[in-house]
Amino acid sequence: MYLENLSLHNFRNYTDLETEFIPGVNVLLGANAQGKTNLLESIYVLALTRSHRTSNDRDLINWDADTAQLATRVKKQVSSMPLELELSAKGKRAKVNHIEQSKLSQYIGQLNVVLFSPEDLSLVKGSPAIRRRFIDMEFGQMSSKYLYNSAQYRTILKQRNQYLKQLKFKVQSDKVFLGVLSDQLAAYGAEITFQRRQFLKKLEKWAQQMHTQISLGKEHLTFEYVSQVDQEEELTVDQLYKKLQEAFSEHEEHELQQGTTLVGPQRDDVRFLVNGKNVQTFGSQGQQRTTALSVKLAEIDLMKEETGEYPILLLDDVLSELDDERQTHLLKSIQNKVQTFLTTTSLSGVARQLIDEPRIFTISQGTLHVET
Ligand SMILES: Nc1ncnc2c1ncn2[C@@H]1O[C@H](COP(=O)(O)OP(=O)(O)OP(=O)(O)O)[C@@H](O)[C@H]1O
Ligand SMILES: [Mg+2]
Repeated sequence: MYLENLSLHNFRNYTDLETEFIPGVNVLLGANAQGKTNLLESIYVLALTRSHRTSNDRDLINWDADTAQLATRVKKQVSSMPLELELSAKGKRAKVNHIEQSKLSQYIGQLNVVLFSPEDLSLVKGSPAIRRRFIDMEFGQMSSKYLYNSAQYRTILKQRNQYLKQLKFKVQSDKVFLGVLSDQLAAYGAEITFQRRQFLKKLEKWAQQMHTQISLGKEHLTFEYVSQVDQEEELTVDQLYKKLQEAFSEHEEHELQQGTTLVGPQRDDVRFLVNGKNVQTFGSQGQQRTTALSVKLAEIDLMKEETGEYPILLLDDVLSELDDERQTHLLKSIQNKVQTFLTTTSLSGVARQLIDEPRIFTISQGTLHVET
């Protein structure tokens, strides 16, 4: 898929923007603080209805306005579909084909993006929360069922945590209701865990290929899903449900003391292993970068496999973070395949040689100017 155009009204520092893109590589060139990341962010928000940089939608609306409007036309193999999103203090309104969607989960998934920014290098180095967020954002785009299950899980988890606090402070004494919440949590938790494992298996296959290529056959990348509840790979949803139920009753006393839920997929993690060793603890800087890059590039192929369409790739300032060899791998693997938006303060070296007929836009204070 690719974006034919983009129109922004009061999104961040873009008061009024109307522009058209090419299906290949669109380079966004500009000095610092001009609006390069803001533009990528607008595409990300159009895809997922929320930002990768802030959880507060007010930040996305121009400081002098109350409402932001974003619109684009997505070209797919057989269709061309307008998407519209409006952000305001009242909430979000999302339209597909000019028809308002009552649930955002019906809207998400129409446009698929893969974003790669320097912070993504922390996918390997950073905390488990970063990897869980990665899983939720990527798998959510590919599966509305995953999106639904994880939203339900979050809601019930919140309720259960509140209830545990009330029990702790003796506002409540009814443990039967706690049992009901535990049961619901186990049901959704089992679904989420099962789907995560399935997706990770598929992602691993693509990431492995990429990693082997970049490391010139010297390194073998594998993934490991880390959970307190089950160590086995191949459990069914039913088995996972029983495991989670057991875990909740096992930890109940401790949870009542702490006033919060202590087990479940909200605490799980993914480990990346290079030649069998955890790359987070034992990997060199270069191996960690190669791993992060391989996982990101694998997403492109996984999305194609799952949805039948290549996603759109958003590269925020990453070329400067990668050495020539990794830049070459990145640019070669997207060539003539994936529509790419690439921000940079200057286009030089490998990138200038390798990108085939880019369209170059210069960005200055929230306005776009087409160079070529
Ligand atoms: N809600 C908003 N309303 C108006 N302006 C905003 C809003 N949010 C951010 N900005 C402005 O947008 C500017 C550009 O931000 P952006 O992150 O896109 O810069 P950039 O071009 O990516 O810069 P860099 O090269 O440093 O990454 C910021 O300096 C900020 O002043
Ligand atoms: Mg930026």
